Amino acid sequence: MAFRRTARRMRWLGCHRLGTVWKALLVFVVIAFVGQLLGFFNKSWMQTERQRSVFAVSSEEAQSSALGSCKPHTHVMFLKTHKTASSTVLNMLYRFGEERGLRFALPLGYQFGYPLPFNAHRVKGYRGLFASEFHIMGNHMRFNRPEVEKVMPADTFYFSILRDPVALAESSYAYYKAVAPAFKRAKGLGDFANDPGRYYEPRMRNNHYARNLLWFDFGLDHNANYSAQLARSGEEAVRRSFSLILISEYFDQSMVLLRHALCWPLDAVVSFSLNARQQKPAAGVGWVGKSNPNAAFMLTEEQRQSLREWNALDWHLYQAFNHTFWKEVERFGMARMEKEVALLRIRREVLARACLRDGGKPVEASRIRDKTIRPFQSGLVKILGYELQPGLDNTTRQACLRMIRPEIQYKDLLDASQFPKAQPVPRVLVGSGSSVRRNSSAVRTGEKLVGSSVDRDWDRSRLVPNLSLSLRGVERKQRQR
Ligand SMILES: *[C@@H]1O[C@H](CO)[C@@H](O)[C@H](O)[C@H]1NC(C)=O
Ligand SMILES: *[C@@H]1O[C@H](CO)[C@@H](O)[C@H](O)[C@H]1NC(C)=O
Ligand SMILES: *[C@@H]1O[C@H](CO)[C@@H](O)[C@H](O)[C@H]1NC(C)=O
Ligand SMILES: *[C@@H]1O[C@H](CO)[C@@H](O)[C@H](O)[C@H]1NC(C)=O
Ligand SMILES: *[C@@H]1O[C@H](CO)[C@@H](O)[C@H](O)[C@H]1NC(C)=O
Repeated sequence: MAFRRTARRMRWLGCHRLGTVWKALLVFVVIAFVGQLLGFFNKSWMQTERQRSVFAVSSEEAQSSALGSCKPHTHVMFLKTHKTASSTVLNMLYRFGEERGLRFALPLGYQFGYPLPFNAHRVKGYRGLFASEFHIMGNHMRFNRPEVEKVMPADTFYFSILRDPVALAESSYAYYKAVAPAFKRAKGLGDFANDPGRYYEPRMRNNHYARNLLWFDFGLDHNANYSAQLARSGEEAVRRSFSLILISEYFDQSMVLLRHALCWPLDAVVSFSLNARQQKPAAGVGWVGKSNPNAAFMLTEEQRQSLREWNALDWHLYQAFNHTFWKEVERFGMARMEKEVALLRIRREVLARACLRDGGKPVEASRIRDKTIRPFQSGLVKILGYELQPGLDNTTRQACLRMIRPEIQYKDLLDASQFPKAQPVPRVLVGSGSSVRRNSSAVRTGEKLVGSSVDRDWDRSRLVPNLSLSLRGVERKQRQR
């Protein structure tokens, strides 16, 4: 478009009469512009650009060329569903907000009282209706619209992300085997899938990880028996609250739709997969991203089908919103989508090469030298992270660091900048008793606590699968703070 405008302007100036010299010049200008847009001409490729960071490709430039003159949304609520690549999305929100000095609605610990339904008083610094402005909210919660509305402004853009329930079950099993009683009792996910009812007790704490987890996160009853009517009413409830539902399996297309819905620059939605888990050695593959369609490779087709039936409410949500997603893509334009996805992938490559050591191969946390960027470990599998390219200039280093800073450390950082005088005393988290006080230095370095027989979630909020732990008591403890 800018090209056409340039061409038109040149025609007005009568340049077309000047012939091939001008045409050649014009072609050069266009190539340079596109190159800039994609960040081709970074310092190593073009000496005259030595001072420019790879991020100096103005986001405004990239944005105006693709988005026209819309105004970026700065009131955003992301329902961070579990095991859906949502950490990667949260990282984008953190980056976007941090770069622009926006205020985050942050939890006291690392989640908003999950798995209890969200309550406005879980937000750090919340002082009652409209007492303070929050721009972005995106940490784990069990959705509860009326309470969220007490915190977020009326013009907030709500969105979330879904994943195929079979792949989600595989990921959930790997991550929550030790805390969800239903998973703990099964010998493997296949075993669980063969007869879920045998292992599952509806009222047991943390069993929501084993059945209709998405449905649960949206605030709905995950133990309800499936009926077409119930499934549709849940779907409608989600539609009423959320303007956009992304799909993990189509992550890049999701990012394109998101960026257009929010009117955000391209770089805001370019990411490296965070919180990815390492494939078990037996699988013979290095690692899997979150949207790997083969994630549930160990299951038979019968077992996969069984998991769909077991998670019938989630399966309904997934199919319904997958359908809506692709209708959105159609409205957006298939060809246009392909073009933008290609652009996004090129940009990711460019940034990975600029930012990450070894071209961006994810590495085990223990091998990451800088402890402040080690991802927290939990569950049966290793969570991978990245290392920064050595020798980056300050600006580039900061921008790169934002893209790979793990969730826990990032939240601590934002928290510290929003509440500069906050007491550095470790807090007791949701669901924890005095015996499980947070050792913040251990959390920060992302190290698994050695010698601990209790499996801890990354925020250590669901530590003891102790059924006698009263939720009410936990609530009260939280309120006192
Ligand atoms: C769901 O169905 C099962 C088996 O048919 C039944 O035992 C259970 O009571 C039902 N649950 C509800 C909440 O209706
Ligand atoms: C999601 O939608 C795409 C495009 O219509 C389709 O190819 C795919 O099979 C759908 N997936 C599910 C699980 O319905
Ligand atoms: C880079 O940033 C750090 C911390 O912000 C600062 O101390 C240092 O002086 C900076 N270095 C250069 C070369 O700008
Ligand atoms: C917290 O963990 C660090 C490192 O693992 C250790 O040195 C420190 O003593 C621990 N503090 C408490 C209070 O347990
Ligand atoms: C569960 O917690 C209660 C109260 O904190 C405690 O008395 C009990 O021993 C715990 N049970 C297990 C199995 O840890």
